[in-house]
Order: sequence, then C-alpha cells, then structure tokens
Amino acid sequence: MADIALFTPLTIRGVTFRNRVMLAPMCQYRAVAGHAQRWHRSHHGRMALGGLGGALLEATAVAPEGRITPGCLGIWDDAQLPGLSELVAIYHDEGVPVGIQLAHAGRKAAAATPFAGAQPLAPDDPDWWQGLAPSAIAFGPGWQTPRALDRDGIMAVIGQFAAAARRAMAAGFDFVEIHGAHGYLINSFTSPISNARSDAWGGGNRFRLAVEITRAVRAAVGEDMPLFFRTSCVDGVDGGITMADTVALASALKEAGADVIDCSTGGVLGPSGVAHVAPAPGYLAPFAQQVRREAGIASMAVGLIMDGALANRIIADGQADLVAVGRQLLADPAFVHRAAHELGHPNPHRLLPQGLGFWLERRRV
Ligand SMILES: Cc1cc2nc3c(=O)[nH]c(=O)nc-3n(C[C@H](O)[C@H](O)[C@H](O)COP(=O)(O)O)c2cc1C
Repeated sequence: MADIALFTPLTIRGVTFRNRVMLAPMCQYRAVAGHAQRWHRSHHGRMALGGLGGALLEATAVAPEGRITPGCLGIWDDAQLPGLSELVAIYHDEGVPVGIQLAHAGRKAAAATPFAGAQPLAPDDPDWWQGLAPSAIAFGPGWQTPRALDRDGIMAVIGQFAAAARRAMAAGFDFVEIHGAHGYLINSFTSPISNARSDAWGGGNRFRLAVEITRAVRAAVGEDMPLFFRTSCVDGVDGGITMADTVALASALKEAGADVIDCSTGGVLGPSGVAHVAPAPGYLAPFAQQVRREAGIASMAVGLIMDGALANRIIADGQADLVAVGRQLLADPAFVHRAAHELGHPNPHRLLPQGLGFWLERRRV
C-alpha cells in the first residue's frame, strides 16, 4: 500500500523523526524557581508513551526575568539541567527525539499562573519583576510598562539565548526551538505594534533581534542539531505583522541557520490578538503552506489539529512538513496510535511503547 504521509520519517540534519506528529510546546506552570518537578515527569511520561514523532518542551526561560509566570521552567542556570535531563531520558527511553523551546517573555512577564488567576502581578507582589521590551509600551491595561532595552541589554539577551542553547545540548536535547511568537520578547521586536524604535533594532530593522538570536543559537548548537523557530505569522490586528512580513522573516531566518518555521499566530495584543483568524480545525495550516512555498524552508503547522485524517492531509498536501498537536494530546495521549489505526497503518503495534507490539507480532501471538 502507498505510504501514509503522516507516518513517513523526516530527517533534519542529525535527527530522524519517525513520523510527523510533534507535541506542541505547552507551559505547565508547575516549575519551582525554574526547576522541573514531579508533574513534568508525569506529564512527559504520559506523552512519551504515545508513539510521537517528536516532542517539544514548554517555553523555558533563558533568564529569570524571561519567565511568563513564577511557575515557568528555566534554563538560565546549570543547576536546572539535571531536572531537564530526566525529561530527555523519559523520551529517549521510547525513541522519541525531544526539543526545548527557548523563550523570553519580554513585556508579558510577571503574570500569575493560571492556577492563581493568570492576571499580571502587582508591582508590590513579592513575586513581581520588571519586564523588558523594545519600547516602553505596556501589553495592555493592567500590565506593567516594560523597560526598553538599550544596546547592551539587547546583546545580553542574545548571549542568554546562546548560553541556554549550550545548556540544552548539555542536557541531551536533540533539537531546540526559539520562541519568536505570541507577543513575547522576540515577537515584540518583530511586530510594529510593540516596536516603536527608530534605531538599528526598529523600523526596517525589526527582524534583527530574531535573526541575530537565530545566528547565535545556530553557532552554539553546531551543524547537527535541528533548529526550529516559532513565529506569529500574523498579528491579527490592523497595522500588525502580515504574511508578506512573515515570508521575509522566514527567508532571513533560514539564512541565519533555522531549519523549520513553526507557524503560529497572534499574541502581540491582549487578550489573544488573533481576532480575525477564526479558529477552526487546521486553521493555521495555510500559513505554514505559504511559508514553506514562498520562503523555501520546512514548516510546522499547528492549531486545532484534532484527528489523524486532518493531520495526514496537511502533510500529504504539502502544507507542512510536521504537525504540532497541543490540546488534543493533553486530552488523548494515544492520538498517534488512534491515527495509525484510522489511517490503515499496516503495522500500528510497532508504535507501542518499547516496541512491545512488534515483539508480539514476531511471536505471532
Ligand atoms: C496549556 C497551554 C500551554 C501553552 N504553552 C505554550 C508555550 O509554552 N509555547 C508556545 O509557543 N505555545 C504554547 N501554547 C500554544 C500551543 O503550542 C499551540 O500552538 C496551541 O495550543 C494550538 O494548538 P492546539 O489547537 O493543538 O492546542 C500553549 C497552549 C496551551 C493549551
């Protein structure tokens, strides 16, 4: 029978993904001082057993002030690496390549966790800290006015991403993703909504921070490691990023050493900033397709990919090279197994944990 597109392997540099389904990066808000906890091991254990092609850890801060909430994971300190290495081992035991999303929250930093209400922390809260941005423009009403970075501050951030990438390698990750989406620090530079600078980091130079971070991370991880970059393809508000901007950015990122553009959207203006992109199954896949076609770089589609048939169609139709699945995997960690059965995979039990299904087939039980 013809190969099922979703179950064809994909090799990027030194890493082979056995199928095209990736766990989307999802904050768990359960870290303590940036350190992984038992919850992370439970959650990722649940995901590692599901037959995924690859997995991405949540937005992980490259500096303490780069956390979104006090519960976010961090990778600014070597002491955080043993906890992260355990998560890597959980995936490697099941043959799943695992990456980490390197992030800086920028002006959207210092929010309460969803468990504590998700609102911006008050400046007199003992957990509050100062957010950073291209310009001193608050994310929205009730949010702090961030400190505009000067040149030294920008260079420090680039250095923090490079150091975090080196730590990711030391922890054993197979690939890294730079979080350039959702209105966080990098996206706040790329978007004209939040970047009002007229110097070498604003105006026509809005992409410069994204490109320089990508270049620095590529230099840090060497030539074998795949490098993903998540971007918000459109801001979804008047005067914001358009697809023409995104194609230009993707081309520049490719030149700087990125391998895959992870095509998300919105987040630069509160509450979600995705107003004119109506959520529907696979609604962001056309963005991934345009980036792939016009910038000539691999892309990953995300957004309400809820079943195997849709996931397979996105790959088979050449809309994207990978699909990232978020909430549906939280609800159903067996998403890939179910997709294999639904799509008529000739040997779905091969995907079972530890290849146990394969062992049974050989014994013809
Ligand atoms: C609980 C939760 C946490 C998330 N955290 C992150 C994150 O850390 N980094 C990121 O880029 N996107 C994050 N997202 C967005 C997801 O990666 C994904 O793009 C989004 O949920 C749409 O995919 P889905 O419809 O399959 O869930 C998060 C989404 C959820 C539901």
